[in-house]
Order: sequence, then structure tokens, then C-alpha cells
Amino acid sequence: MRVVIANDYEDLSSRAAMIVAGQVCIKPKSVLGLATGSTPTRMYNKLVEMHKSASLDFSSVVSFNLDEYIGLLPEDEQSYHWYMNKNFFEHVNISKDNIHIPNGISKNIAEECQKYDQAIQACGGIDLQILGIGNNGHIGFNEPDLKFEATTHKVELDLDTIYANSRFFKNANDVPRYAISMGIKTIMQAKKILLLVNGQNKAEAIFKTIFNEITPEIPASILQLHQDVTVIVEKEAAMYLEGKIA
Ligand code: GLP
Repeated sequence: MRVVIANDYEDLSSRAAMIVAGQVCIKPKSVLGLATGSTPTRMYNKLVEMHKSASLDFSSVVSFNLDEYIGLLPEDEQSYHWYMNKNFFEHVNISKDNIHIPNGISKNIAEECQKYDQAIQACGGIDLQILGIGNNGHIGFNEPDLKFEATTHKVELDLDTIYANSRFFKNANDVPRYAISMGIKTIMQAKKILLLVNGQNKAEAIFKTIFNEITPEIPASILQLHQDVTVIVEKEAAMYLEGKIA
């Protein structure tokens, strides 16, 4: 893992946007794995700025989002469909046909999951996967468990995650209990991974991700086995990494 400590959230977002922009410039038909949550929001803002001011071209880019809540309509302001449209897709020239987000209102969730993985493979796999991390070390919605979930699947959210994500909802009872998430295998098959970590509340999770033994109880720890991972950690999130990273 390459670990980069960023001075602050703004610095983290600029560095992340530069990596994504570099990927798209080098390979205009890149397949991007996209993440939601508060962490990547500013990175998306910066990519939109680069699209507007420097004509960063997304017209051939294909995207696959990591996850989506089960039961929320795409128009729901708490859905990841809505988040992606408002923060990114509506402001750049990505083609609608190239956008993929799990369908959380599908009548057949198992089939939806299977088709999602097939679609990723049909596009030649993900070139660059962007990830955030949950306080409990989850990536996508792969919660701490006794086994690593393999491919895209239905997930029951941990109470910890429901509580953490309730800040986006009116109250915790409104947070869906289930989601569709790319599995660990889906994520690990990406050619490159960019993990973004912001805020003191993530300090323990990122410390364990890097230094703990690899275990499904810390889902992100599996990233130690991937050959091309860049982790950008904002200073406060890096409080336990001091003196441990070269
Ligand atoms: C959700 C998403 C994750 C994200 C995590 C952290 O649970 N499913 O993909 O990484 O939140 O979000 P934030 O960046 O808001 O802390």
C-alpha cells in the first residue's frame, strides 16, 4: 500500500481528483468504480471544476457505483443515485448509458447482483476503484463479518453503520436496514484502488486496515493483499500512523 498523508480535507480531495483525472486522461475509456459518503464529495466537486475549466472529458468513461440502499427510489435525496447525480453526473459529460448503480428497488435483488458483476466483467473490469471507509472498517457496505463476502450481494447493515449514516436522514429509523454492495472479490479485482480516509473518527479503522492481521472483522484489511492501492489519509485520521509510515 502507498500511504499519503494529506494536510487537510481540501488537500486530500485535490490529490484524489488528480489521480482520477490522470486515469481518465491516460485512458479515456476508463472504467471507474465510484464511492459515495461525505468523504469523496469534494473530490467530485474538483473533478467537475476540471471538466468545466480544463475540459476533462468523461464522455467515454464507464462507471460502476459501489453500493445502494435497498428500498430507496433513485429520486430519494438519501439514495446514492441522487448523491451521484447531484454531486457529479449532472455536471460532467458522462454518457447516461455508461452509468451503473445497483438498483435498490429491483424486484429480484439476487438477479440484480448477479447482473451487476456480469456487467463489470463485460466492460473488462474496473480500472480504478475509489473507496471510503466506515468507522468499523467497512468498504462499500461490506460489514465486519466472519467471512469475506465475495461478489455483489445483499447486505444487512450493522447498527454502527445505521447510526453513522443516520446523519444524512431525519432520524435513525429512516435509514434502510439493507443495501446492495459490491463484494470484496469485486473490489479486489479492480486494477487500482484509491482509498480516501478523512477525520479523526476514522483513525482507528485506518490504523487497523494497514497494521492489523487480515480479517473479515476489519473488511478493509484485505486491501493489504492488493498490489496497487493508494491510501490518502487526512492528518487527523492519520493520528495513529505517525512514525509508522515511511
Ligand atoms: C457508507 C458507504 C461507504 C462509505 C462510508 C463512509 O457506509 N457505503 O462506501 O465509505 O459510508 O462514509 P463517509 O465518507 O461519509 O464517512
